Amino acid sequence: MGRTVKASRGNKLRCRGWKQEAILRMLENNLENAEIPEELIIYGGTGKAARNWESYDKIVETLKNLDDDETIIIQSGKPVAVFKTWKNSPRVLIANSNLVPHWSTWETFHELEKLGLIMYGQMTAGSWCYIGTQGIIQGTYETFAACAKKHFKNSLKGKIVLTGGLGGMGGAQPLAVKMNHGVCIAIECDEKRIDRRIKSGFCDEKIKDIYEALNIAKSAKKEGKPYSIGVLGNCADIHPQLVQEGFKPDVVTDQTSAHDELNGYVPAGYYGDSLEEAFKLRKKDPKKYIQKSMESMKNHCNAMLDFQKNGAIVFDYGNNLRGQAKKAGLENSFDYPGFVIAYVRPMLCVGRGPFRWLALSGNPDDILKTDKIVMEMFPENKTLCNWIKLAEKHLPWEGLPARVCWLGYGERDKFALAINKMVRDKKIGPIAITRDHLDSGSVASPYRETEGMLDGSDAIADWPLLNALLNCAAGADSVHIHNGGGVGIGLSTHAGMVVVCDGTEETDERIKRVFKTDPGMGVIRHADAGYKESINVIKKTDLNNPMIK
Ligand SMILES: NC(=O)c1ccc[n+]([C@@H]2O[C@H](COP(=O)([O-])OP(=O)(O)OC[C@H]3O[C@@H](n4cnc5c(N)ncnc54)[C@H](O)[C@@H]3O)[C@@H](O)[C@H]2O)c1
Repeated sequence: MGRTVKASRGNKLRCRGWKQEAILRMLENNLENAEIPEELIIYGGTGKAARNWESYDKIVETLKNLDDDETIIIQSGKPVAVFKTWKNSPRVLIANSNLVPHWSTWETFHELEKLGLIMYGQMTAGSWCYIGTQGIIQGTYETFAACAKKHFKNSLKGKIVLTGGLGGMGGAQPLAVKMNHGVCIAIECDEKRIDRRIKSGFCDEKIKDIYEALNIAKSAKKEGKPYSIGVLGNCADIHPQLVQEGFKPDVVTDQTSAHDELNGYVPAGYYGDSLEEAFKLRKKDPKKYIQKSMESMKNHCNAMLDFQKNGAIVFDYGNNLRGQAKKAGLENSFDYPGFVIAYVRPMLCVGRGPFRWLALSGNPDDILKTDKIVMEMFPENKTLCNWIKLAEKHLPWEGLPARVCWLGYGERDKFALAINKMVRDKKIGPIAITRDHLDSGSVASPYRETEGMLDGSDAIADWPLLNALLNCAAGADSVHIHNGGGVGIGLSTHAGMVVVCDGTEETDERIKRVFKTDPGMGVIRHADAGYKESINVIKKTDLNNPMIK
């Protein structure tokens, strides 16, 4: 049974406090922004917010009745308990998709999912922190900016970026390329997804014929005009074809849902009207579907290697396409780097990451007022000020008004306190602060965030687990541990968090602790791996690592 869910707005509480109300609105907001709301699928292949509608209803009911000193426990999208805890404890604790390491594979996951025992939480889907495509856009913008800085004298002007996937996260690519002044061709097999990105302002035009798209892209390149095109097609068909015909894009990456060979990636030959046949095959003969999917990913990745050989800058965009291609027999699939190792790690080393906040009132003015404050507080941070101006100019509002802005250690607590004060002074309504699981200290993912760590500690998952434990101890309002986000089951461990700014002094105390512990663990993790910039942060700040003097 499907239905439409919209996040509640305004200042009327349905719960016993703003902490619970905020978390309920965030859950509703996930569904308001979902890719397939009727199936509770929010984004990232099959990343879900609740196990089923029965669980969803019980979560809502329980949040409405939850006292200020109680905690609701969610096991893979199902509410399983309410315990009396402390007023300063988290109100919500969530564990999604976690399997004992030896059994942590898609095969086991699918068996257990069929039995109704587990749910795939992706990153922010299962922790109710998704804010739509805008949530990833600054990361995508900064990644393309870093790519431009490294390879193209600071701008993508006159450059063509070829990519795939216009889903919940991938849909940010066309706008992020445009904001870097480049031209984006994004291949997407599902016409509805292209239409959705055009409607919400993330993509300029839909074209069904790749050659027509190439002509438009080439003339935009010549004119130096920023532009984006969503092309209806399948990457596993189009990429090899373009290599053969000698097309030379400047940058190639990909955000199809390659992390999931059954319910994410769509094999060659299926797109547009024939997509239904692929969906039928998924159900009727999953083995055959997986076989086709793996073979297609091998060819897709191989074409990306060929583009690289022909001079393009190629990077993996965190969907494990390289890992899948290797599993399918493409030995050199890792010959191009992941985006974290290529562009993002220096930011993570200093605790910089995707800090996000939502206006629970539903009023966009609340966000615009906080935009102003963040720019006033950190005028020396040019990247940040530039980003806020770009965001105000280019980003649509999606669901509850929200903003993403990468902040580092020493910045997050200051800004969060300023937000809480604005709420206390009644300048704005209550705000929920959260972040992506893709952050400085909250994830272990050897094919992505922790690829190629200096000391070889890529696969050590103690760090995100410590991050979650510490955020509980410090007083976050909601804390989450997940397996498999971004790259697929068994390949990552990661944690999420929320702090609700209700304007109280008690929340000031939570903020002072959590926004130190959360990015602080990121600095500590990278310092422990030997990154000099992280060690410097420890030496220059109040961070205390007994092993570093
Ligand atoms: N880069 C990041 O920061 C980040 C963050 C989270 C997740 N991810 C990963 O990125 C991928 C995309 O995430 P999403 O939320 O956009 O997923 P999504 O499932 O919402 O969208 C994926 C899109 O890829 C399309 N697709 C699948 N196979 C295709 C093919 N062969 N050719 C063309 N289109 C195809 C689908 O139709 C869908 O629209 C996932 O693997 C996800 O795990 C990346």
